[in-house]
Amino acid sequence: MTIEERIDSALAAIRRCTSAAPELGLILGSGLGDFCDRLEDRIEVPFDQLPGFPLPTVEGHAGAFVFGTCRGRSLAALRGRIHYYEGYTQQELTLPVRVMARLGVKTVILTNAAGGVNLDYKPGTLMLISDHINFSGNNPLMGPNLDQFGPRFPDMSDVYTKTLREKLKPLAARADIPLREGVYVMYSGPSYETPAEIRMFRTLGGDAVGMSTVPEAIAARHAGLQVLGVSCITNMAAGILPQPLSHAEVVETASRVKAEFTRLLELMIDVG
Ligand code: HPA
Repeated sequence: MTIEERIDSALAAIRRCTSAAPELGLILGSGLGDFCDRLEDRIEVPFDQLPGFPLPTVEGHAGAFVFGTCRGRSLAALRGRIHYYEGYTQQELTLPVRVMARLGVKTVILTNAAGGVNLDYKPGTLMLISDHINFSGNNPLMGPNLDQFGPRFPDMSDVYTKTLREKLKPLAARADIPLREGVYVMYSGPSYETPAEIRMFRTLGGDAVGMSTVPEAIAARHAGLQVLGVSCITNMAAGILPQPLSHAEVVETASRVKAEFTRLLELMIDVG
């Protein structure tokens, strides 16, 4: 099946389950996926009912679209994100974003767990993504252009919509949620970076590093969607502290800041 056929058949399958008209899309990173359970009037469409849709291999549970409402807004959230390091192409892992666009979503909220590259950050810092460096070695728009979504050479000067960020910042300050702003570097993974790679990313202007988000953000902008992105700095990146990196630390920090991250996510839903 071509990417366009997969999008069309996913839409048809979703339309057999729900007539939801989501305004916002939500793709959540490590440790925050259960925010989906907070949506009201939920309808779930598992990916295994969507022909040709990629199934997540890491999280131990099937992927699904979760339709519902939160703070009066209609949302399409993703349960179980798909990552490039799982072996899917970037065209495949951005299928959900394109389906969201076809469903009428106007803004996509992306969150992730990331390593802190900026030496002023600490595990637990929340970073609003101002821009990204695509160091994944690929691009989700490679191959035939999907003209129905956007142009062959889409502009990427304002990927993480500045007007939305400027609305979010005072709301976060008023809610006493400390928020930094910085550049996210995507590395393919699944191995963590080396200390030399982290020094390079800092020299290049990166503040955080992770293994997701950039393909989704590029596909969203191609389709003309607005994007809001936040990284939870779960650990300092390789070589900064005299200790090895571990997924256990990522999960532990994500769960420690979950309450604050959830409050920030609600504000993002308000401005999105
Ligand atoms: N590097 C890459 N991805 C990550 C990290 C990291 O240090 N922490 C959480 N996700």
